[in-house]
Amino acid sequence: MRVLSVASECAPLVKTGGLADVAGALPAALAGQGVDMRTLLPGYPAVMAALGETPEVARFDDLFGGQGRVLAGRAGGLDLLVIDAPHLFARAGNPYLGPDGRDWPDNPERFAALSWIGAHLGVHGAQRWHPQILHGHDWQAGLMTEYLRQMGGGPATVLTIHNIAFTGTTDVGRMHSLRLDPNRYTVDGYEFWGGISALKAGLMGADALTTVSPTYAEELMTPDYGMGLDGVMRYRRESLTGILNGIDTDAWNPATDPAIHPYGDLDGKAANKSALRAEMGLPDADGPLCVIVSRMTHQKGLDLVLAALPALLDHGGQLVLLGSGDPALEHGFRMAGEQHPDVAVRIGYDESLSHRLIAGGDAILVPSRFEPCGLTQMYGLRYGTIPVVGLTGGLADTVINASPAALAQGVATGVQFSPVTADALRNALVRLCQLYADRDIWPRLVANAMAQPVGWDQSARAYAALYDRLAAAR
Ligand code: ADP
Ligand code: GLC
Repeated sequence: MRVLSVASECAPLVKTGGLADVAGALPAALAGQGVDMRTLLPGYPAVMAALGETPEVARFDDLFGGQGRVLAGRAGGLDLLVIDAPHLFARAGNPYLGPDGRDWPDNPERFAALSWIGAHLGVHGAQRWHPQILHGHDWQAGLMTEYLRQMGGGPATVLTIHNIAFTGTTDVGRMHSLRLDPNRYTVDGYEFWGGISALKAGLMGADALTTVSPTYAEELMTPDYGMGLDGVMRYRRESLTGILNGIDTDAWNPATDPAIHPYGDLDGKAANKSALRAEMGLPDADGPLCVIVSRMTHQKGLDLVLAALPALLDHGGQLVLLGSGDPALEHGFRMAGEQHPDVAVRIGYDESLSHRLIAGGDAILVPSRFEPCGLTQMYGLRYGTIPVVGLTGGLADTVINASPAALAQGVATGVQFSPVTADALRNALVRLCQLYADRDIWPRLVANAMAQPVGWDQSARAYAALYDRLAAAR
């Protein structure tokens, strides 16, 4: 089975969040299922540098305002097709944001080009490699189905929703520059509340839709989570499945992780915990050492942590946060770090430090208001770092709440709270401190967490079965 994955970011080459982890993990996860997956990526400077000299497989005189070509090669352990189009992608730093921290004004065209080339490769193939499935990720690949229509059709299409909050919406005046068919500016096309939405186009046009957890698949059909697209999601209910993300269990393996003191059980965590405390300048304490590794946005509910922090500290807990994003949240955490000796804050993005936090922490806080899947709670499980999570999306699907029943049956792996409010988080943190203090329960929780399957096996089978079904239906 040949599949072209079309993504705007892909680890280890370019990453702003979990989308990159997933796009980067799918090819290897699916290889075991007999899927030959190649990944189409924009040629950002980091991608071009990693690719080096490689053959050109297609050339375009006018790719949304300049010349472009497609290169084929290997980099970062991936089989890639890369769009070399300097007028669109030769910009350093974050793939979506300019130096002022705002979206590049031509993002609609930049990712239209990604979608257009995805469709082109679907129709024409690359070097005699013809994909049977085009698998796009998020709004950046949403227009692929519109372009396929214009090109007279192509392979079957899958669109995965990693986060419906990003709808890829722009002004209707861009119809021409985005090469869209004016006749498709309709409710069953790309029209969205009087504008153009690349995501909406893909949600209406793709043969199959997936999202990254079963609970989020249900939530998407409700006004609270659908971000104005819940009607579309209900309309496409039959074509939608939730397939849980896995994590890279090689990169996130406490027994071999080069960034930490490797370990295999609760006792082995101790060296990591004291190293983390030393690194962060935290004193010893009686309560749990909580960690957070996160983008700092409204989605992630970190304002609730600031509100609930006194309760954690009162119970002897500590907090280390690594993240960046919203300036007001950054400021709030910086202040907390300055005021409380038991709070340490590192604003920034640091892969290796994130491993030290997750290995050294007793618990990881993920109080998201919504979370399509979430990866860090799964890192926590694997590292015996108990997740404290809002009851939503993938957080609901990956953590087993330490309810009296789950504790009695010996299956609990974490603490869930609902609704996602500061009060409920406060209660959850107090519960965490009680569980931590219970010398019978805590080691069992940690052992359960570490034994939880968090890899790709099951989900890789689900994707492969979906591809087979779609290809067979052609
Ligand atoms: P999202 O994609 O919504 O940000 P996920 O939990 O799916 O959430 O994925 C986030 C990914 O980004 C994880 O791999 C996490 O470890 C990583 N990450 C987020 N913030 C940082 C940071 N400041 N430093 C290092 N890694 C980070
Ligand atoms: C998005 C979501 C996150 C998910 C990731 C990968 O960034 O916010 O929950 O884990 O995509 O699918």
